[in-house]
Order: sequence, then C-alpha cells, then structure tokens
Amino acid sequence: MAVIFPRWANKVPLYLAVVGALGGAFLVFAVWYWGSPNYTDVGYAPEQPVPFSHRLHAGELAMDCRYCHNTVERAAYAAIPPTETCMNCHKSIAKESKKLAAVRKSYESGRPIAWVRVHLLPDYTYFNHSVHVAAGVGCVSCHGRIDQMNIVRQAKPLSMSWCLSCHRQPDAQLRPRDEVTNMSYDPKQAGYEPAKDPARKRKVDPPIHCSGCHR
Ligand code: HEC
Ligand code: HEC
Ligand code: HEC
Ligand code: HEC
Ligand code: HEC
Repeated sequence: MAVIFPRWANKVPLYLAVVGALGGAFLVFAVWYWGSPNYTDVGYAPEQPVPFSHRLHAGELAMDCRYCHNTVERAAYAAIPPTETCMNCHKSIAKESKKLAAVRKSYESGRPIAWVRVHLLPDYTYFNHSVHVAAGVGCVSCHGRIDQMNIVRQAKPLSMSWCLSCHRQPDAQLRPRDEVTNMSYDPKQAGYEPAKDPARKRKVDPPIHCSGCHR
C-alpha cells in the first residue's frame, strides 16, 4: 500500500493540541498581566509624606485647582504648590495639628515637602498642560474626580492609545474654558457644542503624527 502520510503525521493532532493549550494559557496571562491596572498604572496611589486631602480642600472647601497648581494654564508642567501656599492658611488654621507637623517643619527649615509623584509619562513623550487647558479640556477628563479623593489616585491609563482616542475625536471632550476646573461639569448634559461657542476662534486640531508627542 502506498504511504500517503509519513508515520510522524499521526502525532500532529497531539502537537497542535499542546501548542493550542500553551497559546491559550499565554493569551490569558497576557490579558491578565499587560491589561492589569498595575501595568497601565491605573489606581496607582502612593502614600504621601503629609495626609493632604483633595476631597477636603478641593471638594468640601471648594478651592479652585489653580490656587495651588497655578502654572497649569501657562506652562507644560502643573506646579505642585510650595509650603508657603499651605501656610497662607495653616499659620492660623489647625496650627497645632499633628497631621501638619511635617508642613510646619518644612516651612521653618525651608526644605520642600517630598511629595511623591503620581502621574508620570516616559521621558520620550511630550505633554503640555497649558495647550489642553486653553483648548478647554477639563482636569476631570484626564485625572478623574480628584475633588473626591483623599489620596490622589491615577484614574486614566495615560497610554498612547488613550491619548490618541481623544486626539482623533476631541469635540465631545471639550468644554467652555471657564469650566476647565469644574469637576462636576458634564459637557454632554449641558448640551455644549464647541462649534457654536463664540469664544472659540478655531476648531481644535490635536496631533496624531508621531512627532507631535515624540519630539
Ligand atoms: C490646597 C492646594 C491644592 C488644591 C486646591 C488642589 N491641589 Fe492638587 N495637589 C496638591 C498637592 C500638595 C499635591 C501633591 C500631593 C498629592 O499628590 O496629594 C497635589 C497633587 C495633585 C495631582 C497629582 C500630581 C502627581 O504627582 O501626579 C493632581 C493630578 C492634582 N493635584 C490635581 C488637582 C485638581 C484637578 C485640583 C482641583 C480640583 C487640585 N489638584 C486642587 C495641592 C492642591
Ligand atoms: C484656603 C485655606 C487652606 C489652604 C491654602 C490649605 N489648607 Fe489645609 N486645611 C484647611 C482647612 C479649613 C482645614 C480643616 C481644618 C480643620 O478640620 O480643623 C484643613 C485641613 C488640613 C489638614 C488636616 C488637618 C487635621 O488635623 O485634620 C491637612 C493635613 C492639611 N490641611 C494640609 C494642607 C496642605 C499640605 C496644604 C498645602 C498644599 C494646605 N493644607 C493648604 C485650609 C487650607
Ligand atoms: C489631556 C490630559 C490632561 C489634562 C486635561 C490635565 N492633565 Fe494634569 N497631567 C496629565 C498628564 C499626562 C500628566 C503627567 C505629565 C508628565 O509626566 O509629564 C499630568 C500631571 C499633572 C500634575 C503633576 C505635575 C506635572 O505637570 O507633571 C498635576 C499637579 C496635574 N497634572 C494637575 C492638573 C490640573 C490641575 C489640571 C486641570 C487644570 C490638569 N492636570 C489637566 C494629563 C492631563
Ligand atoms: C480628552 C482629550 C485629550 C486627551 C486625553 C489628550 N489630549 Fe492632547 N490635545 C487635546 C486637544 C483638544 C489639544 C489641542 C489642539 C488644538 O489646540 O488645536 C491637544 C494638543 C496636544 C498636543 C499639541 C501641543 C503642542 O504644543 O503642539 C500634544 C503634544 C498633546 N496634545 C499630547 C497629548 C498626550 C501625550 C496625551 C496623553 C498623555 C494627550 N495629549 C491626551 C486633547 C486631548
Ligand atoms: C497623542 C500623543 C502620541 C502620539 C501622536 C504618538 N504617541 Fe507614541 N506614545 C505616547 C505616549 C503617551 C506613550 C507612553 C505610553 C506609556 O507610558 O505606556 C507612547 C509610547 C510609544 C512607544 C513606546 C512603546 C509603547 O507602546 O509603550 C512607541 C514605540 C511609540 N509611542 C511610537 C509612536 C509612533 C510610531 C507614533 C506615530 C504613528 C506615535 N507613537 C504617536 C503618545 C503618543
């Protein structure tokens, strides 16, 4: 009888089954690992040297973000406030509080508080706050409800695909410029249409090309 398949061909289904099983396991691992909050940094909320609460200051006390992050409208970097800003109030408010001991120490010594960085892009990407604020992108779109957080937590992945998904269709994400720091403003609910806003001189045009963000 003519041999059509060589003998080793009998084992082919077994090989396929083994490869298939390993591949499946790898896929599950891949989704679990690279898709996990740890990998994308969503949920990262390091402990800070002072138990400073945005929920109290920006939420209950309704302080505007720009009182402390006062460079956000004109610079790439949103400044973290110096100890002097805290002491504007804490020279007289809760001045005996233990929770403020490190703040008083910093004020007396002149050494800044060592706040731990929460959001951080890799060096090879370029990001600029002022451009986004000027275009009417709200803090809440990229940082979530900071005004409800006792400890700042990264709410969005800050991945390339996340940046691009807004850059491709920015209009639904825009708001009037004076609502940029209003955390509860919802452009959809307010029926905001950028094209009909007389304060806008031109249509926004965020970069999609590589050199826009990798310069
Ligand atoms: C009273 C001053 C104050 C106000 C008001 C304030 N912040 Fe902050 N913010 C801080 C300080 C201090 C830190 C650094 C410590 C920390 O992360 O909690 C910080 C950290 C942050 C960070 C994380 C920075 C990083 O390391 O990545 C974001 C984002 C932020 N603030 C957004 C906001 C937004 C949005 C508002 C308005 C809703 C706001 N802040 C209002 C003082 C303030
Ligand atoms: C506009 C005034 C104001 C500014 C500016 C301000 N705070 Fe406060 N802070 C308050 C008030 C009001 C309270 C509530 C005090 C109380 O509960 O008795 C408070 C409470 C606190 C507490 C809790 C104190 C306790 O014993 O429970 C901490 C910690 C704190 N602030 C840190 C900071 C830091 C750090 C900064 C600067 C980044 C800052 N604050 C800036 C007004 C301010
Ligand atoms: C389009 C998205 C976007 C918007 C809108 C935005 N941020 Fe950010 N923010 C980021 C990213 C991304 C980083 C990390 C930047 C880096 O690592 O270079 C960041 C970092 C920060 C930091 C840490 C210091 C710094 O600049 O790296 C603070 C504080 C902050 N943002 C506050 C704010 C406040 C306040 C607003 C609103 C007025 C705001 N952000 C609006 C995306 C955004
Ligand atoms: C929620 C929407 C949104 C998100 C998210 C967003 N952007 Fe933008 N981006 C914009 C808009 C709107 C503009 C302004 C375009 C204009 O003015 O024509 C812009 C402009 C820019 C520019 C051009 C600035 C310049 O100086 O030329 C860069 C670079 C940029 N974004 C980087 C990023 C990066 C990096 C991320 C992610 C970490 C990001 N953006 C996330 C909406 C967004
Ligand atoms: C809107 C801004 C933006 C544009 C446009 C953009 N990138 Fe990125 N890219 C990012 C950000 C932000 C990261 C960092 C992602 C992270 O931290 O995980 C990144 C990361 C990368 C990385 C590192 C690997 C990775 O995926 O993390 C490569 C490679 C890259 N980009 C290539 C490109 C190329 C090629 C283009 C053009 C087709 C491009 N990028 C366009 C924002 C952008």
